[in-house]
Amino acid sequence: MKQKKLTISYTEYNSESELPESIKNLIINAKKTALNAYAPYSKFMVGAAVLLANGKIVTGNNQENSAYPSGLCAERVALFYANAQYPKVAVEAIAIVALQNKKEVLNPIYPCGACRQVILESQGKQKTQIKLFFAGQNCIHSVDDASNLLPLEFDKESLKVKL
Ligand code: THU
Repeated sequence: MKQKKLTISYTEYNSESELPESIKNLIINAKKTALNAYAPYSKFMVGAAVLLANGKIVTGNNQENSAYPSGLCAERVALFYANAQYPKVAVEAIAIVALQNKKEVLNPIYPCGACRQVILESQGKQKTQIKLFFAGQNCIHSVDDASNLLPLEFDKESLKVKL
């Protein structure tokens, strides 16, 4: 028996001014789109903005439903739309922002497990890593590689028969 350890690393920015212009702009897009979320049940409005390698920004917000599990998180709305419209274009970065009472939450929020799985599938399809930015009023957290969000992932390799 052997104990193994995995570590992840992330960056904390204490002010948006520490970020490159392209990422500041991505966060602005995420905030704007969060205002259009359909979240009458949780009242937790989330916005995700996806920066593509062609410079385009695709946004999405959470879409809830009276049949609760039928709703979808902001990250998957944005990413599925980006993949549907630009299937061959790599995703460079994703910014995520949540609002409560129409105000940005104090501390960053991170994607749920299902969204992490979907983000990793996108990263696996392309050769380059996806950077993620989680913005709150107090600080912004970021990871340079989506794998930091989901160690020991289930991916297409897992489906191959290895007996
Ligand atoms: N939600 C997101 O859209 N993204 C996240 O990262 C976490 C949660 C949504 C799902 C649901 O509409 C609401 O927030 C409360 O969970």
